[in-house]
Amino acid sequence: MLDTVSVALPENGYDILIGPLSETAARFRRLAAGRRVLAVADTHTGSILPEGTALFFTSGAGGEFVFPAGEASKTFATAAAICAAAARQKCDRRSLFVALGGGVVGDLTGFAAAIYMRGVDFVQVPTSLLAMVDSSVGGKTGVDLPEGKNLAGAFHQPRLVLIDPAFLRTLPMRERIGALAEVIKYGVILDGAFFSFLEQHAAGLTAEVTDPALFGRIIRRCCELKAAIVVEDEQEHGRRALLNYGHTFGHAVELLSNFSLSHGESVAIGMAIAGRLAVTTGFWSREDELRQNALLRAAGLPVRLPRKYNAAALLEIMRHDKKCRDGRVVVVLPCGIGRAQVVADLEPVRLMEAMEQCHD
Ligand SMILES: NC(=O)c1ccc[n+]([C@@H]2O[C@H](COP(=O)([O-])OP(=O)(O)OC[C@H]3O[C@@H](n4cnc5c(N)ncnc54)[C@H](O)[C@@H]3O)[C@@H](O)[C@H]2O)c1
Ligand SMILES: [Zn+2]
Repeated sequence: MLDTVSVALPENGYDILIGPLSETAARFRRLAAGRRVLAVADTHTGSILPEGTALFFTSGAGGEFVFPAGEASKTFATAAAICAAAARQKCDRRSLFVALGGGVVGDLTGFAAAIYMRGVDFVQVPTSLLAMVDSSVGGKTGVDLPEGKNLAGAFHQPRLVLIDPAFLRTLPMRERIGALAEVIKYGVILDGAFFSFLEQHAAGLTAEVTDPALFGRIIRRCCELKAAIVVEDEQEHGRRALLNYGHTFGHAVELLSNFSLSHGESVAIGMAIAGRLAVTTGFWSREDELRQNALLRAAGLPVRLPRKYNAAALLEIMRHDKKCRDGRVVVVLPCGIGRAQVVADLEPVRLMEAMEQCHD
């Protein structure tokens, strides 16, 4: 079964195809016909590469570039190495880069594609759940700096996104659980019916073996929701900011934990804090908060802020967030399951209070 979600941007729209690679291959071949292809993977997804190479090199010309897995590789140096590999492979302005991997491979390959010869086409083949539901769609690409994550980058939309849920079979459980924070986030801020669907299938979310039908439906809905937002607000001047739900608090928690808490775990705690704040400010009800937190817990995610993470220290980090406007902390608050809004005028003491109430 093949599903298509269209990202209907006026100038650089593209399709997301969800289904077995064997069924989406024809679309890729049409796009790649007569072009050199550079397939990029990390050392984990590189082992999946042989499955992909038969498909990605159908044009007969191309090469591969594999770098060490992990966020530590998301640097200018790796982006430069991808460009150098492309030059060695004699890639020209018509060449096509393919990102086969998680968000790190996708962000790096997209960034390299944005700058190689001032921009070449690229295709996303996400293999982690996070990349399937979030990072492969929307055209944000970039690298980390020693000073902070994602500080340099470019908007560069892919030409095609091929999602095969079968890749999830080998994804470590902690990676899957982390991405479920983003999945639940979509339900909370954008789609109450999807949230209920997740509640009904909660047991399947953390089942040892991923059910491709269940995950196919989840991925499809997340892509539809993200695509709709991206089409409305491609470069995050407005509604796209809703996707930062849980991230203002979450980023601070992630940083203060020195990355011992994963991004997804931190975002789940961030959602719990934002959810608490939404109760104390009257945006949503205590029942809504309980439903959100119960689903996060069922997905194996934390909803309490470890006591060692001091609210004042977290607030200080939030004040330096790149999304902070004129020193004012901007938060996304849900106003019922399935709806949310951006709020910029809350007193810092309210934020502190919510964090303290979430301490374990
Ligand atoms: N561009 C965006 O809009 C956007 C959005 C969210 C996150 N991101 C970025 O995405 C990155 C996080 O993405 P991620 O969580 O996918 O991280 P990742 O790419 O590091 O992947 C996580 C781990 O899973 C492994 N892996 C991936 N697919 C696998 C599979 N099928 N089987 C076995 N192992 C597999 C990877 O090798 C890696 O070790 C961060 O750098 C973040 O900044 C970007
Ligand atoms: Zn996130």
